Amino acid sequence: MTKVVCPGSFDPVTNGHLDIIERSARLFDEVVVAVLVNQNKQGLFTIPERLDLLDRATAHLPNVTTDSFTGLLVDFCTTHEVDAIVKGLRAVTDFDYELQMAQMNGSLTEVDTVFIPTSPEYSFLASSLVKEVAKHGGDVSALIPGFVNDELTRKYA
Ligand code: PNS
Repeated sequence: MTKVVCPGSFDPVTNGHLDIIERSARLFDEVVVAVLVNQNKQGLFTIPERLDLLDRATAHLPNVTTDSFTGLLVDFCTTHEVDAIVKGLRAVTDFDYELQMAQMNGSLTEVDTVFIPTSPEYSFLASSLVKEVAKHGGDVSALIPGFVNDELTRKYA
């Protein structure tokens, strides 16, 4: 049984995240989507809201669960007996920082990181950009699940 974690802020979950989560769910036995509780960054959605949106977005995936964590990702991996961290790579610009984090995490514990290339149609997609566009009334409905779009519209109403 291989158990992996897909970590992130998920503020909110996008179709790009879902692409990586769905492909992880096909590749691995068990996938935990873990939302970072960042004490220094408020975010638009609360942690319970982000988890609720993730639960709804992954309801069709029986081997996917959601959770949140504070502190180090490697500690979450140890506590939850996670075999590997899965990260999506959107473009070469992601690579330097992701490689650095993967190597740091690997040096702290022996947890490995697996990179999955984001599908080309989502290579530009980021929660921060989705929020920026939605805040100014732009249409992001093709980039996020419908119920996430509804909640985003409500936030900026
Ligand atoms: O969606 P994000 O904001 O790009 O996700 C970043 C995340 C949560 C994966 C990363 O910041 C993280 O792992 N934070 C936990 C703290 C930690 O372990 N830091 C050391 C990384 S080497």
